[in-house]
Amino acid sequence: MKTSSELSPTSALDLEGLFNERRALIDGALDRLLPAEYVEPVSVHQAIRWSVFAGGKRFRPILLLTTGEAFGAHPEDLLATACAMEMIHTYSLIHDDLPSMDDDELRRGRPTCHIQYDEATAILAGDALQTLAFQTIAEESLLSPEKRVLLISELGRTAGTPGGMVAGQALDLEAESCAVTGEELERIHRLKTAALIIAAARCGAIIAEAPDPELDAVGKYAAQLGLLFQITDDLLDITATAETLGKTPGKDLQAQKATYPSLYGIEAAHQRAHLVHQEACAMLEQIERPTEHLRAIADFILRRKA
Ligand code: IPE
Ligand code: IPE
Ligand code: MG
Ligand code: MG
Ligand code: MG
Repeated sequence: MKTSSELSPTSALDLEGLFNERRALIDGALDRLLPAEYVEPVSVHQAIRWSVFAGGKRFRPILLLTTGEAFGAHPEDLLATACAMEMIHTYSLIHDDLPSMDDDELRRGRPTCHIQYDEATAILAGDALQTLAFQTIAEESLLSPEKRVLLISELGRTAGTPGGMVAGQALDLEAESCAVTGEELERIHRLKTAALIIAAARCGAIIAEAPDPELDAVGKYAAQLGLLFQITDDLLDITATAETLGKTPGKDLQAQKATYPSLYGIEAAHQRAHLVHQEACAMLEQIERPTEHLRAIADFILRRKA
């Protein structure tokens, strides 16, 4: 297996290898942590596994592992928290797709959870993934009790409200069919998407016991990375196909969502993506650690096709 130092900074091939390796590690751990399909109530456990193992980039857990390793954590100490991040993320997707929210029928290349099962089961699968995420961290014996509390607090703050994903999702829905300012749009994106991405980076650094100034700097990098992630998501909704995206494109326009391309146009949204990418990379310059993989992740998000 390659060590971090053997992988070149922005080579797409090496990054792909690194991603594949980490994805396999995360998927194996998720499989061990999630209730088996045959355990009662089977409907909820099947629905959880349907959504978690549909494929997904595993971007947030990969970011957590990469950040933790850049700051010198032992890889095995990072895995449970990385899985907890993916559980929260998958719960957010299951609920985001519900008829009362974005009303989507395709996710990760498969029928969405409420289409494959039913709405009640999808709501419960999301609820269960959320509670299992916190339980997973609380019970991770490789981490000190103090660290577990810090991680749980970080995840609670960034997944919930008023400063996290739930707040962003509420504002996103309220903004449908409304005229929003650039400031309001950025606030929605920072809350609904960047908050959890910040948590992923910071949790990796917390496990590595990074000092506060570095924790701060990596959080600022991840804030711009998270904003970049949602700008590219908005762009892909217009430019990608269902086949590459694994979800139905064109839904933002249909729902009159507040997005970067709808507010500024496609070209200006691309320019904003480049600027935010530069800002993310500039934050890394302030961290005296091997941050080349974090830089490569920012490059990957700027250019992603799915
Ligand atoms: C989709 O997230 C939801 C957003 C925050 C834009 P991803 O694009 O990471 O979805 P998966 O996990 O790869 O399916
Ligand atoms: C969702 O943003 C962000 C979440 C918190 C799930 P979107 O609604 O744009 O995500 P997609 O496009 O459905 O994946
Ligand atoms: Mg949404
Ligand atoms: Mg959606
Ligand atoms: Mg979207």
